[in-house]
Amino acid sequence: MNPFKFGNVVTGEYFTNRKKEIKEIVSEIKAGQHIVLMSPRRYGKTSLVDEAMKISGVKWFKMNMELIAGEVDMANYYVRNALSLNKFEKIKHYLKSLKIQPYIQMQPETNDVSVSFNMESRNISTLLLDSLQLPETIARNIKQRFVVVFDEFQEIRRISPMLERKMRGIFQYHQNITYIFIGSQESMIREIFQNKKNPFYKFGRHITLNKIDLPEFSEFIIKRFASQKIDASKVIDDILEFTDCHPYYTQQLCHEIYILNEKKTLFKSVIDKAVDQIVTEHHADYSRWWNTLTNTERKVIIGIVSGDHNPTSQEFIKKYGIKSASTSGSVVGKLTTAGTLVKKNGGDLKIEDPFWEKWILKNRQQR
Ligand SMILES: Nc1ncnc2c1ncn2[C@@H]1O[C@H](COP(=O)(O)OP(=O)(O)O)[C@@H](O)[C@H]1O
Ligand SMILES: [Mg+2]
Repeated sequence: MNPFKFGNVVTGEYFTNRKKEIKEIVSEIKAGQHIVLMSPRRYGKTSLVDEAMKISGVKWFKMNMELIAGEVDMANYYVRNALSLNKFEKIKHYLKSLKIQPYIQMQPETNDVSVSFNMESRNISTLLLDSLQLPETIARNIKQRFVVVFDEFQEIRRISPMLERKMRGIFQYHQNITYIFIGSQESMIREIFQNKKNPFYKFGRHITLNKIDLPEFSEFIIKRFASQKIDASKVIDDILEFTDCHPYYTQQLCHEIYILNEKKTLFKSVIDKAVDQIVTEHHADYSRWWNTLTNTERKVIIGIVSGDHNPTSQEFIKKYGIKSASTSGSVVGKLTTAGTLVKKNGGDLKIEDPFWEKWILKNRQQR
């Protein structure tokens, strides 16, 4: 079996320990401290919180805000998840606390419940307030603390412009719920939680999740290959240099290496083969991403992949034919917000996806 996984949440043997981070999250939860967990996409936030929740033993539910299509949809999911916190038999009791009654379907064998409010728009506010209150009502009743996790929380602004205010208005009175807000768009998360004008200002403690530490990741990868009787010690540094310890891309590369490899010991040539394979396999996606870019965006990206890391310098804009430093600056801002560009530790900019970078280089050479 392939010892590496990428894409979705990873747990168990597919998850490096991240002991320090888990300990921190668990201890904050136990202290009732709300948390804002932030990092670029695919660093492992969702996996980490899932793991921390499992270890904490506290009852919890998660709202993936990406999946929510509006306020009524939000209420449906929220009520369904909140009801799952308690015994199946108690559902009726809690439904009484709602002013507007949902249509409920139950499957007694699996204890699955589906909730749907069929709403006229004038009642949405009541509906939402009631739903958001439900976990606290249940917690108080059974004298147990819960955790509610909002994943990709920055999506709240797409769902509805007033939602932030409504939520904050209710959450501030909750004494039995600890809230965890996970976010991948740093600028938006900072705006939501660090701008005095916004309702969630200073609502939770900020934790920034970094990539996995090099020694921890090395040990993990070597162990995972070893579980399939493969020695990765000769290539581990090359793998992590290529992926810069990015959790997702590292697992993606190792996954491919495992598929292509036929030997007991890994050598550098297998990394090149795996990178090539991934670049070829994703050609359609990479080409589509490239084709959504404007000319100036292309110039900035070409400059960066060519090894020039300061797109707002006079030298850069001259060399790549960009109108002005401010044009270049606003493009960098846009690409950074979108997650296409990221800052390296030293502050230099780089392309977030190392495989896409390879694709760009490869295709531009073929002219
Ligand atoms: N602790 C970890 N150990 C090993 N791989 C990880 C870890 N965390 C994340 N990953 C890798 O990154 C991928 C994305 O993780 P995910 O939790 O979905 O990130 P996020 O929620 O930040 O977008 C996972 O599928 C896995 O391949
Ligand atoms: Mg996630």
